[in-house]
Amino acid sequence: MGKTAKQKEQELAHPPLVIDLKEATRRLRKKEEWQSAGRAATTLMKTPYRRATLMALRKGAILTRHRTRGAVLLQVLSGRIRLGTDASQVEVGEGSLVSLHPRVSHDVEAIEESELLLLVVKEAGEAPQVEAIQLEIPQPLKQEHDELHVGLAEAINAGGAVGAAAKAVAELMHPHFVKEEMFALPPLGLLPLLAEHGVQPEMRGVPAMTDRLERELPEMLEEHRAIVSALAGLVEAATNEKKPEYARFAEKLMLHAHAEEAVSYPTARLIGRYVREHLEAQP
Ligand SMILES: [Fe+2]
Ligand SMILES: [Fe+2]
Repeated sequence: MGKTAKQKEQELAHPPLVIDLKEATRRLRKKEEWQSAGRAATTLMKTPYRRATLMALRKGAILTRHRTRGAVLLQVLSGRIRLGTDASQVEVGEGSLVSLHPRVSHDVEAIEESELLLLVVKEAGEAPQVEAIQLEIPQPLKQEHDELHVGLAEAINAGGAVGAAAKAVAELMHPHFVKEEMFALPPLGLLPLLAEHGVQPEMRGVPAMTDRLERELPEMLEEHRAIVSALAGLVEAATNEKKPEYARFAEKLMLHAHAEEAVSYPTARLIGRYVREHLEAQP
């Protein structure tokens, strides 16, 4: 997603972050794992697009074969290491900088006691590094639900036949909305990210949510039918009591249910399938 002018302005106003590497190394060597395992690491800074890690390795320590989603810059601050990829082995000593493309599988062995500065940088346009993606209902859909709740409360307060008919709708609608907000609508919040960056490993929790929608779909469609039938009762009561605004409200709620069946539910189901298929296809 593009940055707003305000975000860009805030970034430009950020003061530089200064890290004392000598002090960080001293602290690293006091860590328990340095004493016990002969290797230690500490994250110096981390943003969605950049990560800096300081590492200390005793002679013979090995970082087993791994790969990162971002490009790697590895600076040897002291000592000497051997770095292996599928294509080659290189020995690099103090003062050298090694650059690796994203997703290149590599391992490291300390030939001497070494200190390394590891920078992992996501390329511009790639999805940011995030631990897990928050599934949130798209804001306009949440607002629509909230407005329908308010409208229904007003119809109940109108009293008379309209109030009674609205109450019957509310009893069916409230538990239905709870389910929708729990598992039917949150997957739709992924659409902008999916369109921009495709499926990300952090989306692995999504199919569990859409599986629940698949399971409960027949019941939810049944609930829609019951809600629409109760809404017909509200239209009738509003017409009889000459309160056309409540008839219009009831028609708006019917349209809401139709829009969900035609767009929201099928989209959420497709998102679940799409994410699952892509994650299963990845190594
Ligand atoms: Fe809804
Ligand atoms: Fe619904």
